[in-house]
Amino acid sequence: MSTPIIQIKNLMKTYKIGGETVHALNNVSLEIKKGEFLAIIGPSGSGKSTLMNMLGCLDRPDSGEYLLEGKNIGKMNDNQLASIRNQKIGFIFQNFNLLTKLTALENVELPLLYAGVSAKIRRETAMESLKKVGLADRAAHLPTQLSGGQQQRVAIARALAANPSILLADEPTGALDSRTSKEIMEIMQELNEIGNTIILITHDLTIAKQARRMVSIQDGQLQENGGELLGHFAMH
Ligand SMILES: Nc1ncnc2c1ncn2[C@@H]1O[C@H](COP(=O)(O)OP(=O)(O)O)[C@@H](O)[C@H]1O
Ligand SMILES: [Mg+2]
Repeated sequence: MSTPIIQIKNLMKTYKIGGETVHALNNVSLEIKKGEFLAIIGPSGSGKSTLMNMLGCLDRPDSGEYLLEGKNIGKMNDNQLASIRNQKIGFIFQNFNLLTKLTALENVELPLLYAGVSAKIRRETAMESLKKVGLADRAAHLPTQLSGGQQQRVAIARALAANPSILLADEPTGALDSRTSKEIMEIMQELNEIGNTIILITHDLTIAKQARRMVSIQDGQLQENGGELLGHFAMH
């Protein structure tokens, strides 16, 4: 068996505001294998963003261990962390986070630019990536000339461009109507079927159910298989 792509052990993250202590992550352990499609579901304030920041190497825990492809993230300095992040992780956000003055193609080229890829290869690779999300014919469009769903597809193409180990999506359908959400989830399914490892963070059970595995988070604590909590989330 291959090593899991992500191994997290006993992760803790505490915030102290005034006299109050919040355990945003309370002893979280999680293993994710290459090729998995995992949903992390939890209500507002449960610790999803905190966990996403850890998984995405945007922040470090107070204690506990995070191995990404066997490498100990906790031992890295900020520069090493930034470089791991650029190489290994493709981010997809709720609000797309596209640069408004750049075309779809130029947006998708950005991670390749950071990776030092030459202009010609950059253009070709970005175009391939746009093709994967069915938007090759919109390459020259600016974000404002695209629908919300198309903008999210550009953002997915950008996340894919540098061939990351993991796609990390934070509420990727949160700003989209249900029909467009369905379209985006279909693309995520296809990307998983061709081998991409996907972690999807959401408060929406309908979305989470479309992943192949689900864990739930509540008060900073993780539970495998959100099954027992389904009733709870269905009420919100
Ligand atoms: N920078 C911060 N400073 C203080 N408290 C924070 C900070 N970030 C998050 N928290 C607290 O940690 C808990 C988890 O937050 P968060 O991870 O943002 O939850 P979610 O994304 O599930 O809504 C919340 O109680 C929140 O108020
Ligand atoms: Mg959040």
